[in-house]
Amino acid sequence: MFDAEVYNKRVEWYQQARFGMFIHWGIYAIPARGEWVRSVEEMPEEEYMSFFEEFDPIDFQPKKWAKAAKEAGMKYAIMTAKHHDGFCLFDSELTDFKATNTKAGKDLVKEYLEAFREEGLKVGLYYSLLDWHHPDYPHYKDQNHPMRNCEAQKDVDRDFNRYLDYMHGQVRELCTRYGKLDIMWFDFSYGELRGEAWRATELVDMVRGYQPDIIIDNRLEVSGEGFGSLATDNPSVFAGDFVSPEQIIPPQGLKSESGRDLVWEACITMNDNWGYCAKDKNFKPASTIIKKLVECVSKNGNLLLNVGPDARGNIPEESLEILREIGIWMKKNSASIYGCKGSGLPKPENGRITGRGNKLYYHVMENAIGSVPLYGISKDLVKSVRLLSDGSELKVADNWIVNNYPDIAFVDISNSPYLPDAVDTVVEIEMKKMG
Ligand code: GLC
Repeated sequence: MFDAEVYNKRVEWYQQARFGMFIHWGIYAIPARGEWVRSVEEMPEEEYMSFFEEFDPIDFQPKKWAKAAKEAGMKYAIMTAKHHDGFCLFDSELTDFKATNTKAGKDLVKEYLEAFREEGLKVGLYYSLLDWHHPDYPHYKDQNHPMRNCEAQKDVDRDFNRYLDYMHGQVRELCTRYGKLDIMWFDFSYGELRGEAWRATELVDMVRGYQPDIIIDNRLEVSGEGFGSLATDNPSVFAGDFVSPEQIIPPQGLKSESGRDLVWEACITMNDNWGYCAKDKNFKPASTIIKKLVECVSKNGNLLLNVGPDARGNIPEESLEILREIGIWMKKNSASIYGCKGSGLPKPENGRITGRGNKLYYHVMENAIGSVPLYGISKDLVKSVRLLSDGSELKVADNWIVNNYPDIAFVDISNSPYLPDAVDTVVEIEMKKMG
């Protein structure tokens, strides 16, 4: 049975945190054409194994990653312990296809967890339900498997339950050998393979048994497509704790069938790939990502921003630069992000609004002629207004120019035609009472 009290308590820190780092890393960083390379190119196992033999991340210093995340204002991270290719970044006893058997020679998950915890970040692991390396995972005619069109695989005997034992066994290893995990991010369900096809009740009971406070995504039921039973009034045991929209920010935020606000996290890439892709230089500007983070919060959601370290273990320089720029904005403005949610007011035409308690954060993204209108906020309800970045007082305008519009508070931000922060100038409004 869904227990709202237990649930709300479990997701509390996560809803405060709002901003996290996704890390997609594996031997696919060598071909450097994204993490789906084996499937997209229908690459045979032998060819892919050459990357396993070659993998040697000499620059792997997870402390640097953790610092970059922390500096950007992120509060948690999620790294791929195993992606669809089946390669394990952790020292699983159940397979040889793992980091400890590469030139890396160490448990990369363990080092990641230690480094990020040390920076005070919450830690999560991504674990792929798909596995293109395991002999018992469906090959021929599976939608995604690299060997889906290979006739020779047609009559090979496979025992899916044996795969599930393996998969459950690995999840048990992750839940029992690495201390407290804050998030488990399963990926993903498709076709017939969803819910109990993964023996999901058993899996979730096991995970929660070892890690009672852990937060789980919704992909034991769905993928980026679909919301799952979490969006109904009768979520299943394996519905998970948050909806995981992918490469999109839900237009109106997300609500359950009966109108309850759902907990959600939009995962997005910085360029167009999750795993390292050498030729993909299509990076979004930091200004866009800052605005998208604000958008998520204004719609009660989180943003999980991806980095794809290269084969040496370096986060691409472009990504680091974006993180630095976000960090500069966050240092001054994070009070409008952490612990904040939507204001209940409609989106104003010149920006967005987030809020916490009796404070509203009005994100001005477009300048006005003269005093800046705070749409939806009436003058009488305003106690004080400050520029968040430096705490300086902003006066509510009272003159013939604005007085024709008595329902809107106008503030004087600056005499300059330019906003102090061209991306997002945050105005902190303390309300006498909420409108
Ligand atoms: C997808 C992809 C995958 C990526 C994930 C992130 O489901 O299969 O490569 O890890 O989305 O959300």
